[in-house]
Order: sequence, then structure tokens, then C-alpha cells
Amino acid sequence: MGATRIEILISQQRIEQRLDELAAAIDGRHGGAEAITCVGVLKGSLYFLSDLTRRLTTPVEIDFVQISSYRGTVRGRLEVKRRPQLDLAGKPVILVEDIIDSGYSVAAAIDILEEHGAVRPEVCTLLDKVPAREIDVPITYRGFEVGDAFVVGYGLDLEERYRNLPYIGVVHEDAAPAPADDA
Ligand code: IMP
Ligand code: MG
Repeated sequence: MGATRIEILISQQRIEQRLDELAAAIDGRHGGAEAITCVGVLKGSLYFLSDLTRRLTTPVEIDFVQISSYRGTVRGRLEVKRRPQLDLAGKPVILVEDIIDSGYSVAAAIDILEEHGAVRPEVCTLLDKVPAREIDVPITYRGFEVGDAFVVGYGLDLEERYRNLPYIGVVHEDAAPAPADDA
């Protein structure tokens, strides 16, 4: 069987620098607000949401949504697994995502926030997989643009593994070496 190898794409140091810039941009827009509500999309945003919100000086409330997509079956079919518990009406709301790929998940998450009273929620995504976009989504804050490769780490998983890597990496499935021919 081949081995799985993770190639570092975005180092922990670059992530941390970018988090400082994103937090400054959010504070710059919302510094006068009484509080903002950051709604993380489970599970991939767990580290991004926690590290980002710890850098904010604007008071912040935290909530979560969870949506599961059935990849490889019916495209765009999504199941809502958790809705926000806070009342979002009349408050500045920021949806915090790990990665925007086709755009369907974030579009569904925006719809949910609006059903809970949010008006024009902003979108903050760590990664923007630009070449994979199928529907247009408004992105207010973007960490990094990435290509079409499958990435893991810093919250992102491959079948639930690798979320806890401190960096973003690309997954390579190396072919098994040919068996030695010592006959
Ligand atoms: P979308 O609905 O196609 O935009 O998919 C977004 C969701 O798919 C993300 O929130 C991730 O959970 C997952 N996803 C998309 N691309 C990747 C990837 O490269 N690595 C890990 N998860 C991904
Ligand atoms: Mg996700």
C-alpha cells in the first residue's frame, strides 16, 4: 500500500501573521460596535475561529452552524445539522469558514444566518479555493487563495484525520515502491 505524505503549503508562522492582519481588518470595520457575533462553521473552522477571535479587541459573541454535504452523490445537496442558538437580529454577524470550495456550503450557511435574523452577514474564510468556485459568494475577509489541490490541517480534515496539524498541507498518496526483484 502507498504512504500518505503531507507537503506543507502554508506554515504555522504564515497563518499566525495572517490572523493578526485579519483580526485588525475586522476590528477596523467593527471597532465601534457594541459587539459582533462570529458564527463558525463546524468542524473545520475550530482553530481558525478560536485563534481569530482571541486576537479581536471588539467584544465578540460566538456561535456555530454545522452543515454536511454529500460529496460525490447529489451535487449541492446539504443537510443542516446545527443552527445558531443566539438571536442574530440587528447585530453585526461574521460567518467564519475554513475553506470555500464550490461555494454551496457557505451559501447555505448564509441562508441559515438570515433565517435567524442576520442582515447581510459578512464572510471570513481562511482559505479561498478560487479555481473550484461554482457559484458566486461574497467574501469580506480572506486569509489565503489556494489552488485546486486537497488540503488538510489547521481544522481541515481528510476523513476526519489531520485537523490538528498546526499548518496547512497538501495530501499526496505516494505509490507503493515496486517489490524488490531478488529472484
Ligand atoms: P463547498 O460547499 O464546495 O464550498 O465546500 C466547502 C466545504 O468542503 C468546506 O467547508 C470543507 O469542509 C470541505 N472542503 C472543500 N475543499 C476541501 C479541502 O481541500 N480539504 C478539506 N476540506 C475541504
Ligand atoms: Mg467545512
